[in-house]
Amino acid sequence: MRGVVLLSALLCATCHIALSASNDTARNGTVADGLLDNGNFEQAPNATNMKGTVVVGRYAIPGWVNEGFVEYIKYGQKQGDMLLVVPEGAYAVRLGNEASIKQKIKVIKGMYYSITFSAARTCAQEEQLNVTVAPDSGVLPIQTVYSSTGWDNYAWAFKAESGVVELIIHNPGVAEDPACGPLIDAVAIKALYPPRLTNNNIMKNAGFEEGAYIFPNTPWGVLIAPNIEDDHCPLPGWIVESLKAVKYIDSAHYFVPQGRRAVELVAGKESAIAQVARTIVGKTYRLSFSVGDANNSCVGSLVVEAFAGKGTLKVPYESKGTGGFKRAVLEFVAVSNRTRIMFLSTYYTMRSDDFSSLCGPVVDDVKLLSVRKP
Ligand SMILES: *[C@@H]1O[C@H](CO)[C@@H](O)[C@H](O)[C@H]1NC(C)=O
Ligand SMILES: *[C@@H]1O[C@H](CO)[C@@H](O)[C@H](O)[C@H]1NC(C)=O
Ligand SMILES: *[C@@H]1O[C@H](CO)[C@@H](O)[C@H](O)[C@H]1NC(C)=O
Ligand SMILES: *[C@@H]1O[C@H](CO)[C@@H](O)[C@H](O)[C@H]1NC(C)=O
Ligand SMILES: *[C@@H]1O[C@H](CO)[C@@H](O)[C@H](O)[C@H]1NC(C)=O
Ligand SMILES: *[C@@H]1O[C@H](CO)[C@@H](O)[C@H](O)[C@H]1NC(C)=O
Repeated sequence: MRGVVLLSALLCATCHIALSASNDTARNGTVADGLLDNGNFEQAPNATNMKGTVVVGRYAIPGWVNEGFVEYIKYGQKQGDMLLVVPEGAYAVRLGNEASIKQKIKVIKGMYYSITFSAARTCAQEEQLNVTVAPDSGVLPIQTVYSSTGWDNYAWAFKAESGVVELIIHNPGVAEDPACGPLIDAVAIKALYPPRLTNNNIMKNAGFEEGAYIFPNTPWGVLIAPNIEDDHCPLPGWIVESLKAVKYIDSAHYFVPQGRRAVELVAGKESAIAQVARTIVGKTYRLSFSVGDANNSCVGSLVVEAFAGKGTLKVPYESKGTGGFKRAVLEFVAVSNRTRIMFLSTYYTMRSDDFSSLCGPVVDDVKLLSVRKP
């Protein structure tokens, strides 16, 4: 029997917001931040290119080239007893065994870009997506432990090696049922600008303001997968140094301590974020940062552990799940000219409003400065 995405009728109300026509070309013809051409699959294949829900022909979906068993899914379509929901607009695609969709994108050679897309698992088994912009490629596990709707947003970054690149999203899986395989919706791009150091902070992108595209109308943040295979992080300056993803959140949908973006450590000790800072051996440094909760019903005694050289600090934070933060400080003496600054969450926490999605403490506004000793 085919398992289907867990669906929540609640979404119906929020996700049928009218789409603003996306303008996906910048003034000079390169791609602009936002949805790709037909990035939310709202432009449907012609009826003659459909056999039931299955797309017939490689050029049937406007803007895309598809290969293998690809289904075109309509919002509200029934799968057994369940109703399929789609986060962006009314349509999505499902990639069957070995199936892929691809699109050519005009970019600026040498620049870094981040791709954000929504995906959902359909069968009760491990699913993966292989995202490629040659020569970079990364396999993202599609986990469903982060949002109760079954949908999550994933980010992946690449460096443009030429002026036109081809994005390929491929399901490498081979399941018994060819119609198993992830659903994809809303594929967007954002140019990333390498963060610069400032006079008053040795950390780069210390407030997480620069990073992956976040969809204005999906309220569940963006998962940034560990950098096992992706050496360009969608959060410039940082490394997701763990087994599981961290969640990139925005102030439009969450409480964020400072600025518009922050990171939520959603998977206990399995999700950590790090940065290597240049330090001078023997000097004393002061690392300060915000620990809080995202106003997402993540209730409980949260703890963030900070590591800097040989220094460690556990920061307890009593969360009511309604948004808030405190500052914490860790002083340490540098023992190397490169000091790894790392944050992780000690505990696993579940949201108190659905008891099914993982959540955790928020880290933001990191500052690292040397301390002048009198
Ligand atoms: C998008 O922007 C380009 C260049 O600024 C402009 O020519 C085009 O009309 C715009 N398209 C839409 C749909 O607004
Ligand atoms: C296109 O515009 C962007 C930003 O407006 C600029 O950074 C880039 O250099 C331009 N590319 C070309 C090829 O002119
Ligand atoms: C759909 O049909 C119209 C009219 O026949 C044609 O112009 C258009 O190219 C077709 N679209 C696709 C994606 O095949
Ligand atoms: C992912 O896809 C790319 C391009 O199709 C391929 O070169 C790469 O080997 C694939 N990786 C995995 C792990 O399947
Ligand atoms: C938390 O969210 C609620 C409901 O969305 C909102 O009314 C409240 O102002 C938010 N609290 C903070 C601290 O942002
Ligand atoms: C400091 O950096 C230099 C190179 O820049 C390296 O050769 C040296 O081993 C480093 N020292 C320590 C203690 O890491």
